[in-house]
Amino acid sequence: MKIDFSHEPLVQLPSSVVVVYGFEGAAAATGTAQRLPAETRALLDELQTSGELTGKSYECTLVHRPAGLAARKLLVVGAGKKEKSGDAHLRRLVGTAVRYVRGRGIHDLAWVLDSGEVPPGAVQAIAEGAIAGDYDADCYRTERESERRIDRLELATGGGSSDEAAVAALERGRVIAEAQNFSRDLVNEPSNRMTPTSLALRAQQMAGHFGLDCRVLGPEEIRDLKMGAFWAVAQGSDEPAKLIVLNYAHPDAAHAELIGLVGKGITFDTGGISIKPSENMHEMKTDMAGGAMMLGVMQAIAQLKPVARVVALVPATENMPSGKAYKPGDVITSLSGKTIEILNTDAEGRLVLADALTYARQLGCSVLIDAATLTGAIMIALGNITTGVFGWSKEWVERVLGSAAAVGEKMWHMPVDEDYRDLYKSSIADLANTGGRYGGAITAAMFVGEFAGDTPWVHLDIAGTRWSNDEKPYLAKGPTGAGVRTLVHLLSNLPA
Ligand code: BES
Ligand code: MN
Ligand code: ZN
Repeated sequence: MKIDFSHEPLVQLPSSVVVVYGFEGAAAATGTAQRLPAETRALLDELQTSGELTGKSYECTLVHRPAGLAARKLLVVGAGKKEKSGDAHLRRLVGTAVRYVRGRGIHDLAWVLDSGEVPPGAVQAIAEGAIAGDYDADCYRTERESERRIDRLELATGGGSSDEAAVAALERGRVIAEAQNFSRDLVNEPSNRMTPTSLALRAQQMAGHFGLDCRVLGPEEIRDLKMGAFWAVAQGSDEPAKLIVLNYAHPDAAHAELIGLVGKGITFDTGGISIKPSENMHEMKTDMAGGAMMLGVMQAIAQLKPVARVVALVPATENMPSGKAYKPGDVITSLSGKTIEILNTDAEGRLVLADALTYARQLGCSVLIDAATLTGAIMIALGNITTGVFGWSKEWVERVLGSAAAVGEKMWHMPVDEDYRDLYKSSIADLANTGGRYGGAITAAMFVGEFAGDTPWVHLDIAGTRWSNDEKPYLAKGPTGAGVRTLVHLLSNLPA
């Protein structure tokens, strides 16, 4: 999608459809609808009186041959209650317009900006909403929804000019939303097409394209390095395990913190010998969403170039039952030296994260952030809407939550507490890999945290937010790219 500013008077915009929004109860006289010429607003007043135009959230009203405008169509998007405002709201309104319009065979639109100077944050949100909205997860359908993609979006100022900051914000929004969509593409792939090997290839292609350093360790290296926890999970699969390592360093950041991003990369989670029930097992192709999130983040920062030092690690493997698979009762030795009793082979995510975190510390990381589709328990607690945030470091947990709030991603601080530690004690090893049903997301997070040692660490459980079970007016059903925007914001706003 090409996105540009347009400075034509609104009445002369040449796009197929001009888009405005208005709030509930007074859609014709609020939001950007009030920027329309009197003649057009009179038309909207009529629709409002007849009850066709209410301004309720995401309502779309298409007017053909709108009086007073050169454009052949006018779309009014309902903005809901007047108190709803801000960039997060704007992002959704634009996404709604894009999805509505392309569903009607229109490929170009003009989004009318608020009058006066449009703040960079709003421009960025508009670009993000449009590009994320124009995504569909139907790449294996022969007749694709996404063939109806939007080619062109004009950001209509109605006159005047757009400054450098606005143009930069537009570019920033494009980079971030494309990174989010890249992450969604990876999560969307089924496990027969997204093996650890193909995930590593996709990472290498991305790194080559955007100038990142990328290294991939194979099975022998993983074993030789003594990553016993990662290896235990990998040993049951015929697909070779891969540890993907990406590096980004800004030349002025030689002394900055080395941030380690660790993403769970289970390309399919059958549960292993503690096999999952077959109902919904197909959803476990998404069990590499944490890894996909980190790859998306790296794609974005490679282009945005924040003053930061970042290494991303994605331990990638399948979790399979087989004659070679690890079994309940096994005791394994992790890279850290800590021994782990396996009580359930379906608690595999924490094992691959354990060794990847230890390795990140060996590489010198001074801050660790991991993301994982770690537990069903977080879905029970927070549903598909909110990501669970865990960690001992108040400072870094708050940083993550602050970034999430700034970019409109829903995240919630969940507790960690010494008192839960007893739950994952083992009678024969240092730790057990499960802590029982109660507080399952907390004990899983804390297990992972044991391998961060005294390094500040934040854990994001995205088991719920990785996927949207239903189509939203502004976003397709399927992979969400959760977390990408938050971490890009965090890495772009590090303390000096
Ligand atoms: N990948 C799953 C968690 C998951 C569940 C992600 C549903 C997305 C949707 C994870 O590996 C898992 O199986 N966790 C177990 C842990 C249990 C065995 C302690 C769970 O949550 O049931
Ligand atoms: Mn599992
Ligand atoms: Zn899993």
